[in-house]
Amino acid sequence: MTDATSPRTGLGRPLRRVDAFRKVCGQAPYAADQQITPKPYVAWIVESSLGKGRVVELDVAAAEREPGVVRILTPANTPAQRPFGEPEDAGRFAMSHALLRDDTIRYHGQPIALVVGETLEAARGAALLVRARYEATDGRLHEVTGDETDTEKPDELDGGQEPDVCTGGDFDTAFGDCEVQVDNVYRTAGLISAAMEPHATVASWQDGTLTVHTSIQIVASAVQALAHTLQLEPEQVRIHAPFVGGGFGSKLGIHADAVLASLAAIALDHPVRVVQTRRNLFANAPHRGSSWQRVRIGAERNGRLVAVGHESVMPMSRGYEFAEPCAAGARAAYRCDTLRTIHRVVKVDMPAIDSMRAPGEAIGTLALESAIDEVAERLGVDPLYLRLDNLAEREPASGKRFVAYDLGRCLEEGAERFGWSRRPAPREREGRLWVGWGMAACTRPNLLTDASARVRLDRDGRATVELDMTDIGTGTYTILTQVVSERLGIPAAQVEVRLGDSAFPKTSGSGGSFGSSAAGSAVWLACGKLADRLLERARSHSDSPLRNAPDRRPEFADGSLRIGGRSAVLADLVALDGSSLEAEAEHDPDSGPPQYSYGAHFVELTVDDSSGEIRLRRAVGAFSFGRVLNPVTARSQLLGGMIYGIGGALTEHLALDPRHGAFMNRDFAGYHLATQRDVPDLDVLMLGEPIPEAAELGSKGIGELGLCGIGGAIANAVHHATGVRLREFPLTPDRVLAALG
Ligand code: MOS
Repeated sequence: MTDATSPRTGLGRPLRRVDAFRKVCGQAPYAADQQITPKPYVAWIVESSLGKGRVVELDVAAAEREPGVVRILTPANTPAQRPFGEPEDAGRFAMSHALLRDDTIRYHGQPIALVVGETLEAARGAALLVRARYEATDGRLHEVTGDETDTEKPDELDGGQEPDVCTGGDFDTAFGDCEVQVDNVYRTAGLISAAMEPHATVASWQDGTLTVHTSIQIVASAVQALAHTLQLEPEQVRIHAPFVGGGFGSKLGIHADAVLASLAAIALDHPVRVVQTRRNLFANAPHRGSSWQRVRIGAERNGRLVAVGHESVMPMSRGYEFAEPCAAGARAAYRCDTLRTIHRVVKVDMPAIDSMRAPGEAIGTLALESAIDEVAERLGVDPLYLRLDNLAEREPASGKRFVAYDLGRCLEEGAERFGWSRRPAPREREGRLWVGWGMAACTRPNLLTDASARVRLDRDGRATVELDMTDIGTGTYTILTQVVSERLGIPAAQVEVRLGDSAFPKTSGSGGSFGSSAAGSAVWLACGKLADRLLERARSHSDSPLRNAPDRRPEFADGSLRIGGRSAVLADLVALDGSSLEAEAEHDPDSGPPQYSYGAHFVELTVDDSSGEIRLRRAVGAFSFGRVLNPVTARSQLLGGMIYGIGGALTEHLALDPRHGAFMNRDFAGYHLATQRDVPDLDVLMLGEPIPEAAELGSKGIGELGLCGIGGAIANAVHHATGVRLREFPLTPDRVLAALG
């Protein structure tokens, strides 16, 4: 690894995280760590124990008498707010997120009061004394079954994709004519993002300005959301999110902590801190809905895929428009003549359902890649070769050629590294363990988004970059430092990146794996403008050592500008005229041909026939995502994705009480994440090279890629081990035992 004082810290270098020291020393201030004066009050959320209906009586008298209680916010004394969901065209990240506005209960766990205390203990203790009486109304409080008669077609899918894409004629006919037909239903459980840093906010209100320290992935839309909710002008809202401890989609928008802390700060004219507890955020931060998925694949005997159909039914939280593109992966994965991909939603009275890491592919590939494996089995061919024989090259729906299609290479190089050709026969035994090998492919759309950035070079040679981008633990500070280092030839130690402030130039933030390409490209362009200015000054200023330099290619390196055999120190060029030079630029990509990142997963596991336990032995992931900006942070992202996918396939499951619409396992004792003991040695291959069509930097999205497909590989390995197909995820021991009979 390279550290910031190294002379070579540009793109592609394994630069150690520039914020590592601050983080391990506790000097990186997360939202709840903000020390401000006056000392914030601390608030505790009182949650509804009803799923749908209204509060008919709320008794806070006893709680209010408790020592240390400052105020209890209820709909009776909470500042005015715009109704939840308005304005209608704002979208879920920018719309009003009103709470405590009236007596309506939309979901189990919704805040019905906020106890503000001088200390956490005072607020928490008093909250136990709040009494509520409810009146229930009918609601849909359970999981989707796939049998619903009132499914709806969503307006659009996440990322703006079409809900239905069907091409190549009548699907039923094409599928019905196929010699080999696979037609199965798969189910996946609701999941929670479970970021390490819980959702938290410290808000203060002064001279008509609301200052909010919060844990958020996208700053600009959070400003809009708070302004809409609180009926303020956006200029009255300032957001700071310099460090964010994970988001995984659940912090794309603001949630209860930000709204409640802001309301209380305004009501009390005093700073207020609201930290959602782990239990709170299962209901008051979004989750991934459960899914019902039907996959139909028709093939010819020679192994050619003819018809690919993928349809899904998922819940949509009433009033919160989000539809997961669960079946959209089939639009890019494999070649076929007839494609049918359909998304339907069922409105439910449940906590917000939103993007969670790799929305679509994370759960869609569990079904699609299992079904492909079944086709291979029916044909009696190696599942690797079935995939290699059916690579898409062109988008089946549009006929357009993919940019830098690289799935074949991922499959081949991953297989080589894993030793796939030595795959044992099915149902191999080692004592009471079955041994299985499985594989799966993955694609993930590469989203191109806008971003702006500002860069300043001071006369001491230091560069400062400012943009409202966030670093949610992925390494954004480090990557952006490398962009400056590369473009201006300045070592990382001379670069300061400042993020997460709504006063800085706007970006699309962190999400959908678009962050580093978008923000990085904006910083690249801003540095390019600054370089042009430096060059112009160097050539024309009367005191410049490069005045009238020959017309040769300029080179920025080692803190200097070189032209021909001559050079000038950048700091000196700045000092020629004033104290600093600044430039700002916007990255505004065209939506060109469809782009994806690619990957392939190979796993070996065992299944215990007496306990039903699945244990991974090893896994190889081979990925192609354009230019590798930093091999250390990139590898971390891929490892994290693979671990996330292991949890999603084997252990994670939101357990719902369908009578009340309540999640029952609202902590990490009941909600099982994959832990160190569940994860074997993971081997990551990073393939691919810079792609000119993929943003300025030539990089594609990577954050979510590692997760896509590994669960399918696990399910396929379980079948290889046991001969049994499990189609309901996660693959918990009880389900394995039931399937083994
Ligand atoms: Mo992304 S769903 O914001 O991890």
